[in-house]
Amino acid sequence: MCGIVGYIGDGSAKEIIISGLKSLEYRGYDSAGIALHRGGKLLLRKESGVIANLEKRITKKDFDGNLGIGHTRWATHGAPIRENAHPHMSCDGRIAIVHNGIIENYMELKAWLVKNHDVEFKSETDSEVIAQLICVYYKDDLVAAVRKAVARMRGAYAVGVISADDPDHIVAVRKDAPLIAGIGEGCNYLASDIPALLRYTRDIYLIENDETVIISKDDIKIFDGDMTRVKREKMHVTWDAAAAVKGGYEHFMKKEIYEQPEAVNKTLEGRINAKGEVKLDGIKLTKKELDAINRIYIVACGTAYHAGMQGKEVIEGFARIPTEVDLASEFRYRKPIVDSNTLFICISQSGETSDTIEAMREAKRKGARILSICNVVGSSVTRESDDVLYTWAGPEIAVASTKAYTTQLVCLFLLALYMGRARGTLLPKEYKRIVDELKKLPAKLTEALGTDEHVAKLAKKFSVREQIFYIGRGSDVGTSYEASLKLKEISYINSFAIAAGELKHGTIALINRGTLFIVFATQDYLYEKMLSNIEEIKARHAYVIAVAKKGNTRVGKISDDTIMIPECADEVASILAVVPMQLFAYHIAKLRKRDIDKPRNLAKSVTVE
Ligand code: M6R
Repeated sequence: MCGIVGYIGDGSAKEIIISGLKSLEYRGYDSAGIALHRGGKLLLRKESGVIANLEKRITKKDFDGNLGIGHTRWATHGAPIRENAHPHMSCDGRIAIVHNGIIENYMELKAWLVKNHDVEFKSETDSEVIAQLICVYYKDDLVAAVRKAVARMRGAYAVGVISADDPDHIVAVRKDAPLIAGIGEGCNYLASDIPALLRYTRDIYLIENDETVIISKDDIKIFDGDMTRVKREKMHVTWDAAAAVKGGYEHFMKKEIYEQPEAVNKTLEGRINAKGEVKLDGIKLTKKELDAINRIYIVACGTAYHAGMQGKEVIEGFARIPTEVDLASEFRYRKPIVDSNTLFICISQSGETSDTIEAMREAKRKGARILSICNVVGSSVTRESDDVLYTWAGPEIAVASTKAYTTQLVCLFLLALYMGRARGTLLPKEYKRIVDELKKLPAKLTEALGTDEHVAKLAKKFSVREQIFYIGRGSDVGTSYEASLKLKEISYINSFAIAAGELKHGTIALINRGTLFIVFATQDYLYEKMLSNIEEIKARHAYVIAVAKKGNTRVGKISDDTIMIPECADEVASILAVVPMQLFAYHIAKLRKRDIDKPRNLAKSVTVE
């Protein structure tokens, strides 16, 4: 998720922008850059890696000015290299822009600019088209040119623009990406987030969708989509910087749990077309290649492995290809049967997990095709893969993975649908039914977050327990594993997940009076079986919290407590059922005063074996 900072006034734009960008580090970034107005020209410096790399390049006095825009980039389109860093300049060097978001129709715009205006692009980004478009439309009115360019753009954006011809203004527009203007004395600011400006001002204007803002040293003018001047109340920020970076949440984990509807929306965006067909950018597998695949391995670690467990179900179900799920740390040392007809699907949030990378290399050596599902553009996993499906969850800061998991599940669904359709193994009616269910997910995830208060009460009741069991059948097995991992890694409670049917083969001996079981019963075709499992453990005096779909009331009658998730098709229930479990783990860990975002002994990215 990128950060934007802009400044206009009598101070050093370079210093203010750098300090603002540093306050946005929590957003995650892999390159940074600044464009300044000086002496009728635009000066540009950008660098890959940390902001300190950029600072080294801008120490000279001749790189400064009183007007500028800066950006920290978290790569989406194109690797995290200097050329792809923002700001982007128009070919003639007269327009510079910074952009957060994704321009969905950038390919089409790029082709138009190349064909009709001989534009030579310098980066692989979607964002560069904005600078080139504005330049094409610019005669002598920057605002008019920006509006014309925006009218051709589809997607999400917060864009800041400066022109070499205009030493007095920054122009900015937004749609579905955050943007604020900061009010100073004899100076004004632009930013994607409030923390970027807290050192300089606490008075801000929130910019709304489709609005244009024109910022000068002494004035901030806001216009609606029709360019009618808008009167906006200023907001005075009273929170401290630490609270602001977490967007008002106490922990990054909570923030990321709550970001799931938006993250899933981003994962789906642009991947289901108007006809309801799944189109996967980054997947180059042809029908012929897909038909030749006779075995799939899904390989990953931790939470990503649990996503893989769900992936096996949907890939086998929709595409009818035998699929195995393996832990990367095991796969790399056993003798898997891999050849050129094998598809190796690697799942990793960070793309830097050592075990996963080595397993992938092993499969590659044996001739497999490598497809990765990953959140970080330009990471090792993506660089070494033949095909990449990005999760687009945005940076995940908390060690406990939440939004990466749900977006991995969505990617696996999209992939399974794509394969099922291409291979003709999924009936059109079924295909449509699942696509429709996926489209409803962002709204249903919001509904699932509505369980928070109830779950917090349950957490209070059970926070002193030292042992919790999770059981389920079908896709609820994967959810049980993930729910259990979430709890143990942040609360340090000993939890255990097992397929419900397996309980009677040994683990049932552990049940004492009051032993806590969280029982998933979200699968309609397995509902009766789960009710029997509940009876079985209740007969041994266990305490049962059941997780079921709204409307399935029988489970409530035989359980001690219930958590209801939104009504949905069985296939997608795992994406919703995990949400209350993330919240349950979070609340228990909080009550036990754990270091939630950085649990003991754990690292966000496990780059050692
Ligand atoms: O970055 P990766 O997805 O490859 O990481 C894999 C695991 O280390 C990770 O999912 C880990 O299990 C999380 N801490 C779980 O919340």
